[in-house]
Amino acid sequence: MRPDVRPVIDADLCTNCGRCVAVCSLDVLVAGDECPVPEGPAPCFACGHCVAVCPTGAISHPAMNPEHFRELLPADEAVDPRLLFDLLRRRRSVRRYTDEQVPEDAVMRLIEAGVVAPSGLNEQSWHFSIIRDAEHLARIRRRVAAIYLCLLNMLDGPLSRLVLRLTVGSQAMEQMEEARPLLEGIINAQREDGDRILWGAPTLIVVHSPEADPAGTESAHYAVANMMLMATAMGLGTCLIGFLTAVAERDDRLQEYLGVPDDHTVDAALVVGYPDVEYLTSVDKRAAAIEFMQLEPPER
Ligand SMILES: Cc1cc2nc3c(=O)[nH]c(=O)nc-3n(C[C@H](O)[C@H](O)[C@H](O)COP(=O)(O)O)c2cc1C
Ligand code: SF4
Ligand code: SF4
Repeated sequence: MRPDVRPVIDADLCTNCGRCVAVCSLDVLVAGDECPVPEGPAPCFACGHCVAVCPTGAISHPAMNPEHFRELLPADEAVDPRLLFDLLRRRRSVRRYTDEQVPEDAVMRLIEAGVVAPSGLNEQSWHFSIIRDAEHLARIRRRVAAIYLCLLNMLDGPLSRLVLRLTVGSQAMEQMEEARPLLEGIINAQREDGDRILWGAPTLIVVHSPEADPAGTESAHYAVANMMLMATAMGLGTCLIGFLTAVAERDDRLQEYLGVPDDHTVDAALVVGYPDVEYLTSVDKRAAAIEFMQLEPPER
């Protein structure tokens, strides 16, 4: 549980306009005669909304760095939806990379973009493990390939297959059978020192969060989505590696290689590098299943 640190209001600067009170979704701020008081019953989750709406700079938050409240561009200079949509379409999974390493400050910029994402109860519980050493990446790849080889061997043995079915259930067995050609591709490539796991990318970012945060995984996914878009805008390529996430928590050694503590969930694995492929067009996606729900008219 975070400490309940509350905003501070400078009565000399406050005009008692009430904006901070109106924007606080937890009613931490309560209207007062001269200025609001931070005495509502709920704990403050340090979202900073009250500070961001104050027109006179009267409100500050001891838990938040004032330098991190940056001015936004004027609304008419903010991103054009056409350009944003182009960026969204431009983001594609990249599976061919040059050997050039991503500079450390570029990685930090991606994380900066990640952590402005929304998070459940503003917990911001995401952690980022960054792996940039070629031998470390190779070790991770070897371990993932070894896990999948073991799994395929289990699928092929009559007794081990039965044990596997009893352990993971028949639906997971079907999924593994479906993924068999991909897994065989991963293993065969690995035997020839090819890389169908991390796709030869020079940087891997693993995002993990404490199991104790019930929204940690979901929040981490929003951060990763921001990072992928920022990477695209910076001319970098990315690819999510679900084949790594899927097994990371089941294997202590792999979890250790990834720098993930026992009480954390592995939420996403993202490789990053300079693309060695250029997509000339965007790609069609299937029509989404959309339904505008309507209440049935009341029966008379
Ligand atoms: C949860 C998730 C897991 C993924 N895992 C992998 C993976 O292990 N390896 C890979 O090459 N691509 C992986 N991808 C990328 C998808 O294959 C890709 O997003 C999809 O084919 C659509 O292509 P696009 O990203 O270029 O639009 C994953 C994507 C998601 C969302
Ligand atoms: S930081 Fe957020 S939760 Fe706390 S008082 Fe301000 S608006 Fe309310
Ligand atoms: S938004 Fe600022 S000026 Fe307005 S009531 Fe709150 S502290 Fe006072």
